[in-house]
Amino acid sequence: VFDDKQARKDLKAYRRKGLDHLAGVIVEQLRPHVRGATVLEVGGGVGAIQIELLKAGAVASVNVEISDAYEDAAMDLASASGTSDSVQRVVGDFVAEADSLAAADVVVMNRVVCCYPDMAAMVGAAADKSTKALAMVFPRDRWFMRVVRAAIAGAMRFRRNPFRFYLHDPGHIVATASARGLEEVFSQRTAGWQAVVLERI
Ligand SMILES: C[S@@+](CC[C@H](N)C(=O)[O-])C[C@H]1O[C@@H](n2cnc3c(N)ncnc32)[C@H](O)[C@@H]1O
Repeated sequence: VFDDKQARKDLKAYRRKGLDHLAGVIVEQLRPHVRGATVLEVGGGVGAIQIELLKAGAVASVNVEISDAYEDAAMDLASASGTSDSVQRVVGDFVAEADSLAAADVVVMNRVVCCYPDMAAMVGAAADKSTKALAMVFPRDRWFMRVVRAAIAGAMRFRRNPFRFYLHDPGHIVATASARGLEEVFSQRTAGWQAVVLERI
């Protein structure tokens, strides 16, 4: 699903229009935390959010991305923005790699937990890696998002592709992070998605 074609599409969209609405909201909410901070982005694709956070004053960023299809586009974007020296990319499953990754001041997970079956493992690991703030965007459990989930499942079954779109309970997502010592300080919803920022207490 997250292949070269998707990487080129994401790169083109970011170059033309910048971040999408909730990604932009997250960057604005994190702005007070990022001066001099380290960033860990999970499933960051072409790395647009971390580039914006580096421009906002973060000093280093690691992107753990399960698909290797984004690497060329991400390196192009990092060099064009003059941030390549501050960006480290790791290709792998974040949950499997988590023990080997250093903690970061700020952890970002934008539209990633909906790609992963074990919400508690993914959100728990992201929360554990965050020393100051964790920002996430995930789908809301609305009827039309269930239609989207069913349509994706049908298409994937037809293609014999194991990828599924998961609608994890938003309350459980926040509770999982809160149980690791974080407190919700911001939330914003669109029709289908929710952005939250949590800070370490
Ligand atoms: C819907 S895309 C979102 C990409 C990017 N965060 C954005 O909002 O543009 C989900 C991304 O999460 C990545 N991903 C899914 N599961 C992952 C995992 N276990 N570890 C690391 N990356 C993962 C996918 O490869 C994909 O790039």
